[in-house]
Amino acid sequence: MTILHSIQPSKRIFSGIQPTGNLHLGNYLGAIKNWVNLQEEITSIFSIVDMHAITVPQDPKTLRASTHEVAAAIIAAGIDIQKSILFNQSSIKEHAELAWILNCVCRIGWLNRMTQFKEKAGKNKENATIGLYNYPVLMAADILLYRATHVPVGDDQKQHIELTRDIASSFNSMFTNDEEEDFFCLPEPQIIGPAKRVMSLRDGSKKMSKSDSSEASRINLTDTKEEISNKIKKAKTDPELIPETIENLKSRPEALNLINIYSSLSDQSVEKILEEFSGKGFSYFKPKLIELTIEKLGPISSKMRYLLKDTIEIDKILKTGAEKAREIAEPVLKDVKYLVGFI
Ligand code: TYM
Repeated sequence: MTILHSIQPSKRIFSGIQPTGNLHLGNYLGAIKNWVNLQEEITSIFSIVDMHAITVPQDPKTLRASTHEVAAAIIAAGIDIQKSILFNQSSIKEHAELAWILNCVCRIGWLNRMTQFKEKAGKNKENATIGLYNYPVLMAADILLYRATHVPVGDDQKQHIELTRDIASSFNSMFTNDEEEDFFCLPEPQIIGPAKRVMSLRDGSKKMSKSDSSEASRINLTDTKEEISNKIKKAKTDPELIPETIENLKSRPEALNLINIYSSLSDQSVEKILEEFSGKGFSYFKPKLIELTIEKLGPISSKMRYLLKDTIEIDKILKTGAEKAREIAEPVLKDVKYLVGFI
C-alpha cells in the first residue's frame, strides 16, 4: 500500500486563461461567466497562465501589464477571491515540474493531432517554439496538478482536455499498481451555454480571437459604449428575417452567432430569444443587442479600470491565491514523484 500525501476531492474545478492582449466577449461568455456561476458550488481554482503566454513571443512589459489586466477583468466579472483561488501560473513551480514528467508520458503522435498548434503555427511550423508544440502538456499539468475533476472552458479547448484525459489515463496505467486506485481521475470538460464558441463579428466561420488582425471582429471587455455600438452595427449579418426555429439558423452562421450572444448575455434560452425576435430583421435586433451588451459589459469595464489603479493590490491578491494553490499542488507533485520512482 503506497502512502500518499494528496487526496482526490470528489469535485474540484480548475481553469485557466492566457494574459495576452485584451479579453474579449468569447473569453467572457465561453469561460469567465461560467466560472462565476460555478464558484458558488465549490472552491474553484483559476489561473492566469503566463507560462502558456510565452509560447509565442511576448514583450515582457506588456506581459506584466496584461497579467494585471486579466486579473482585474476576472475579479471585475465576479470571481470572488474569498471563495475562489486566483493566481498566476509561473508563481507555482510545480506546474513546470509536473509538465516535464507528463512529457515523458504523452506521445508525439498525440501532440501531432492537436489542431490548435496547426492553426497557431501556420505554414511556418519549423519556426514555432517547442513550447507552442508542447503547450497542451503544460495544460494537462495545470489541471492534473490539482487533481481537478471539472474544467470549464470554451469549445476550442475541448481537444486539449481530451488529451489531458489520455495523459492521465496513461500515467495511471504506467505508475499505479493493479490493486491500487488510479491516481488521477479523468477530468471532464464543462462546455456550457449558448456561447460555447463565439464567432468573429466579421466572419461567422472563424472564432472570435485575440489574434485576429481585425479589431472589428471582436468586442473587448474594455471597449467603450461607442466601440461596442460601432462593432455591432458593422457586424456581418444577412438580409433575411430572424426565423422561428434554431434549425433555420444553421446555415446562417453570422446570424446564429448574434442570437447566441444575446441568449448568453441575457441568460435566456435561444428558443426564448427566437420567440421574441422572429419575423424581425437585424436592423431591429442590433440596437437591442447593443443595449444589452453595454448594460452587461459596462460595469465590468468600469470595475476593471478601478482595480487597475492599484496594481500592488492585484499583486497581493495573486500572491495570496498562489499560497492557497501551492498548498494543494505541493502534495500532489510529491505523490507523483514518488509514483514515478524519484527519491
Ligand atoms: P485562452 O486564453 O485562449 O481562452 C480562455 C478561455 O476563453 C475561451 N474562449 C472562447 N470561448 C468561446 N468563444 C470564443 N471565441 C473563445 N475564445 C476563447 C477558451 O475556450 C478558454 O476557456 N489553453 C487555454 C488556457 C489554459 C487552460 C489550462 C484552460 C491553460 N491551462 C487549464 C483550462 C485548464 C487557452 O489558451 O485559453
